Amino acid sequence: MYPDLRGKVAIITGAGRKAGLGAAMARRLAAEGCKVVISDIGRPAGPEMPASAVGMSEEMEAIVAELQQMGAEAAAIPCNVLEEEEVRTLIAKTVERFGGLDILVNNAGIGYLMKPIVEMTSREWDAVLGVNLRGAFLCTKYAAAQMIRQGRGGAIVNIASQAAKSGFPFASAYCASKHGLVGLTRVAAIELGRYGIRVNAICPNHVTTGLGAWQNEYFSKALGMTLDEYLEAMKKRIPLGRPGLQEDTAKACAFLCSEQAAYITGEALNVSGGEEYH
Ligand SMILES: NC(=O)c1ccc[n+]([C@@H]2O[C@H](COP(=O)([O-])OP(=O)(O)OC[C@H]3O[C@@H](n4cnc5c(N)ncnc54)[C@H](O)[C@@H]3O)[C@@H](O)[C@H]2O)c1
Repeated sequence: MYPDLRGKVAIITGAGRKAGLGAAMARRLAAEGCKVVISDIGRPAGPEMPASAVGMSEEMEAIVAELQQMGAEAAAIPCNVLEEEEVRTLIAKTVERFGGLDILVNNAGIGYLMKPIVEMTSREWDAVLGVNLRGAFLCTKYAAAQMIRQGRGGAIVNIASQAAKSGFPFASAYCASKHGLVGLTRVAAIELGRYGIRVNAICPNHVTTGLGAWQNEYFSKALGMTLDEYLEAMKKRIPLGRPGLQEDTAKACAFLCSEQAAYITGEALNVSGGEEYH
């Protein structure tokens, strides 16, 4: 669909969970002929990042095997985006393995630490802001430096959220981090435009698999609704009449990485069936 993506080298962070948005974007970019690095933390890291909530190395390898079966070149490179040295190594290993870097998708994020402000600990706040915002900053810093050295431009896509445009209860750290990610997107677009590096964000609404399924359970309980009632109410407020799919975000990602989006940078694109429109 986008022939110019053939042979491009893409890193997707937080892509180590089969039902996640990252893996869906990896499948899409692999189908377009990209060489894809599946990156994720790969191991638990303290109470804020338990094994049940993060992409473990076995799952990363399984996604790589799936991409290879599609005929794509793919590799798993673990990286905790909070650790500057690991981020630097992620970029270096990608270049060593695939000869360069053209696309970075900042997808790693924590969306499961939901609490009322008065109950949220500062440690939880720091974990969310750290992964969702500092992680995206560090990955952008080292990926952009590599792209500048190469001199052939590039595309950076930040996976923000509807929570980057609107507030949601019990999601103070999440909303703050995603609003911040749009700010980072705009500044990076201004600074990197002269090098032909485009930087955009995608703001998906609720995707009902993986983390989204967990959030549905959480919100329905918190609002005193059954899960069915909650999902029905969600459908009713979305003009296109259905929740988002991972593929909706994956299609938008491929478009933003392609030449078809050559004059688009600094945008925060809603992929929300019309639920979010500013
Ligand atoms: N699911 C939704 O409804 C939805 C909607 C809008 C935006 N998003 C955003 O999409 C992105 C992907 O979310 P998802 O729904 O696929 O959930 P997910 O939990 O499957 O993906 C998030 C990934 O980030 C990884 N991660 C966490 N901490 C990390 C760290 N320190 N270093 C590296 N990786 C780390 C996790 O291991 C996980 O694989 C997130 O940024 C999320 O905020 C999700």
